Amino acid sequence: MIHTHTYDALVVGGGGAGLMTAIYLSRAPNLRTAVISKLYPTRSHTGAAQGGICAALANLEEDHPEWHAFDTVKGSDYLGDQDSIQVMCEEAVPVIIELEHMGLPFSRTPDGKIAQRPFGGHTHHFGQGPVRRSCYAADRTGHMILQTLYQNCIKNGVDFYDEFQVVDLILSDDGRCGGVIAYEVASGDLHIFRAKAVEFATGGFGRVWSITSNAHANTGDGVAIALRRGIPLEDMEFYQFHPTGIYRLGILITEGVRGEGGVLRNDHGERFMERYAPTMKDLASRDVVARAISKEIREGRGIGGKKYVYLDATHLGADVIENKLPDIADFCRTYLGVDPVKEPMPIQPTAHYGMGGIPTDVECRAVDAAGQVIPGLYAAGECACVSVHGANRLGTNSLLDLVVFGRRGGIAMAEFCKTAELPPLPANPTAGIEEQFRRLLVTEKGEPAARLREEMQDVMQDAVGIFREGPGMEAALVKVRELKQRFKNVLVMDKGKNYNTDLLEAWELGNLLELAEVTTVSAINRTESRGAHLREDYLDRNDQEWLKHTMVTRTEDGSLAISYKPVVIKQFQPKERVY
Ligand code: FUM
Repeated sequence: MIHTHTYDALVVGGGGAGLMTAIYLSRAPNLRTAVISKLYPTRSHTGAAQGGICAALANLEEDHPEWHAFDTVKGSDYLGDQDSIQVMCEEAVPVIIELEHMGLPFSRTPDGKIAQRPFGGHTHHFGQGPVRRSCYAADRTGHMILQTLYQNCIKNGVDFYDEFQVVDLILSDDGRCGGVIAYEVASGDLHIFRAKAVEFATGGFGRVWSITSNAHANTGDGVAIALRRGIPLEDMEFYQFHPTGIYRLGILITEGVRGEGGVLRNDHGERFMERYAPTMKDLASRDVVARAISKEIREGRGIGGKKYVYLDATHLGADVIENKLPDIADFCRTYLGVDPVKEPMPIQPTAHYGMGGIPTDVECRAVDAAGQVIPGLYAAGECACVSVHGANRLGTNSLLDLVVFGRRGGIAMAEFCKTAELPPLPANPTAGIEEQFRRLLVTEKGEPAARLREEMQDVMQDAVGIFREGPGMEAALVKVRELKQRFKNVLVMDKGKNYNTDLLEAWELGNLLELAEVTTVSAINRTESRGAHLREDYLDRNDQEWLKHTMVTRTEDGSLAISYKPVVIKQFQPKERVY
């Protein structure tokens, strides 16, 4: 059965970016707004962000948005667009105050200000040493943001369609976005949602890798839908590994542990970051720290020769751990039987965050490969690439990106809706997705999605992870393409309609395979090392040839076309990056 709904504005995704957009849309008079979310919104992955959201509030020491912008540009290895970065760092201060006024329960300084702590790559006086810039709510900052934004959406009467999986975009013949198609998980029915403006805030795709901090739901659905619809993806080769995931499980152990004074140690008990980053040490940028840990492990200095090192917080004392880092203490006790008050935590880098995604301008309007705005389509948060993170994101800039660009998206969409007309519905808007589902359900003998997923994750972890080189990635691409072929015969055993998560997981795997392919193609193509993209066969950054954004588009014949976009450089000229 197919249902039809009509709104002015739709937000796809109930995480931080989507909810912030929805709050702004809900404040505009006479605008019908809905949020469509594959999960119950407060289960969105924003809730897993732990250590903080940064802004140069200067609550504990001197700080300035300009210092924050410099750190972000340097952290991005000079690939971030400096106009977007300036917007983000300047708007950080008022947006944090706004969150506070919405009711976000930040941790406090003794005199009642919002508490702040250091995080990797955030410095004072343009790189002179760590600065306390990350505002936090213990180690539950993302969780608190999500709850606060959701409560404000409910207060403002936003409509929610929970457990509706958006499966396609509606694009009219003249190229305008006119809504989405969604699959209702409970009933298996398709819904046509028409609207003048749609924002994708669908999150990341960390499930491409085997060791990841990402939830099962992070399957890059919005990004893959955009790719299928001929929208380019920007800078997909830049994927961040967070330095400290729980050994083998990948669950995040916040950088806030190091912000509070925790240190990394190898098998000799050595605080090895002193060798790699003499000034910032354990608080160097994430790409630097994740690489250092991996190098220690590769050279046999992992604990007992195994694939992990220690994150040692035992010297911080029970008070700091129980009050400022209670969740990670719980995780370690529950999943590892390790009490971080008394013992060091076994950690390894974990796939965490995609710097690339759907290209947008600073109003969150999606743009095509020629830089032209796609009318009515917006993107914000991890699925978007407004390019504030470039080749490597700084910790706590992701929650900031969500709320700054979520807010901007809401304002821009509300303005657009004032004059825009509802685009005409193309003929048969559900035909494409009905065919995709039909093919998934028709197979009687085939391979389970879980097997294909595991093979994809293993090859991506080995060859398109922290260390990369040409032949290894070429072999990975062959493997991913072989998996795409085998996926055509994937076996969905549940042929029913209600809560058919078997079908949805297979469909999500199709998205992951698309993004694994684009990530690998983009990474093979970029013959330099920059930020999170380290090529052992091209160890140097090469600004002359590669100070540009990669754009990958799926063409009508099914191949991938690569083009480029210049980086916006303003006050900070590229220079060598040392921490
Ligand atoms: O380490 C953390 O708490 C993660 C923060 C982030 O990814 O920004």
